[in-house]
Amino acid sequence: MRFVPLDTPKPISKIGLGTWQFGSREWGYGPEYERRAAQIVRRALELGVTLFDTAEVYGFGRSERILGAALGDDRSKVVLASKILPVLPLAPVVQQRAVASAARLGVRSIDLYQVHQPNPVVRDRTTMRGMRLLQDVGLVGEVGVSNYGLARWRAAEAALGRRVLSNQVRYSIVDRGPERDLLPYAEQAGRLVIAYSPLAQGFVSGRYDAKNPPSGAIRRANPYFLPENLERGAGLIDTLREVAAAHDATPSQIALAYLLRHPSVVAIPGASTVEQMERNAAAADIDLADDEYAALVTAARAFQPVTGLAAVPKLIRARSGR
Ligand SMILES: NC(=O)c1ccc[n+]([C@@H]2O[C@H](COP(=O)([O-])OP(=O)(O)OC[C@H]3O[C@@H](n4cnc5c(N)ncnc54)[C@H](OP(=O)(O)O)[C@@H]3O)[C@@H](O)[C@H]2O)c1
Repeated sequence: MRFVPLDTPKPISKIGLGTWQFGSREWGYGPEYERRAAQIVRRALELGVTLFDTAEVYGFGRSERILGAALGDDRSKVVLASKILPVLPLAPVVQQRAVASAARLGVRSIDLYQVHQPNPVVRDRTTMRGMRLLQDVGLVGEVGVSNYGLARWRAAEAALGRRVLSNQVRYSIVDRGPERDLLPYAEQAGRLVIAYSPLAQGFVSGRYDAKNPPSGAIRRANPYFLPENLERGAGLIDTLREVAAAHDATPSQIALAYLLRHPSVVAIPGASTVEQMERNAAAADIDLADDEYAALVTAARAFQPVTGLAAVPKLIRARSGR
């Protein structure tokens, strides 16, 4: 395992574990997944993963409970990251929600407490007042944000008056927006970009096609899994496969290695099996050559999926089977 070159109380592994899947029926993994989830956590620990990401909203608290229980006595050794959904983020509400998350996780302090998304109405001054109090009493270690643009990330830092260590954003080889401004800022300021959906929810694995779509409501709503986009992605998957062959790896591992090349990036893939977790952890040790990286960039640029409003009628048609 490799770690982030940043001064943090505990080392942060380049590959973390995302746990939205835990206790969330929308992923379609069935009831026995809860047992597997605990095995995934235990294996991740063995492989040197230190960053575990959850949120109060995942499975309405079930993800935090499953994760905390699976970590058991190892909770204090890892970097536990959770998130507040900032519906009404007044300072007392922020404090009360952090206490509830810590209780579900079974910890006295949440290592990284993130604002799940920017509130369009309430400014960060309000939210960060609560965060600062939480840091002052030791219930929260580092503060992070999620789904923030650069200007708002910096505004959040100004409001906190301290570093906002990380911004958790959608970042994968097919969603490269953060490379424009978030990555350069993170590198220059000593901050972290936490890449969520780093496998584009399994799209880059090459496992899926129009006849074999993934399970669950989450991915039925993801335009990448439209038959048209699965077809359009074939060239990128081929390139991932070619690079993977040279490393005795899988396309998913190469897609992760692409992200981890940047020193200020960590990725938090979710996993449906222990084996996936093992592969994802191993991706931290893959070094891509410059020409491989360039080939991936070219293939990624050539992938032009149907997204946004144009994808909506197609998603509705795909859902209704017409
Ligand atoms: N802050 C936010 O707003 C936000 C939003 C989304 C996610 N997140 C966080 O980011 C984490 C990861 O994102 P995500 O779960 O959306 O997407 P992801 O990590 O890109 O995709 C996870 C899925 O990919 C498949 N997979 C994982 N490892 C694989 C491997 N080695 N080979 C082949 N397939 C593999 C699995 O699905 P199958 O096996 O079923 O194909 C797995 O459930 C979440 O768990 C959550 O913690 C945060």
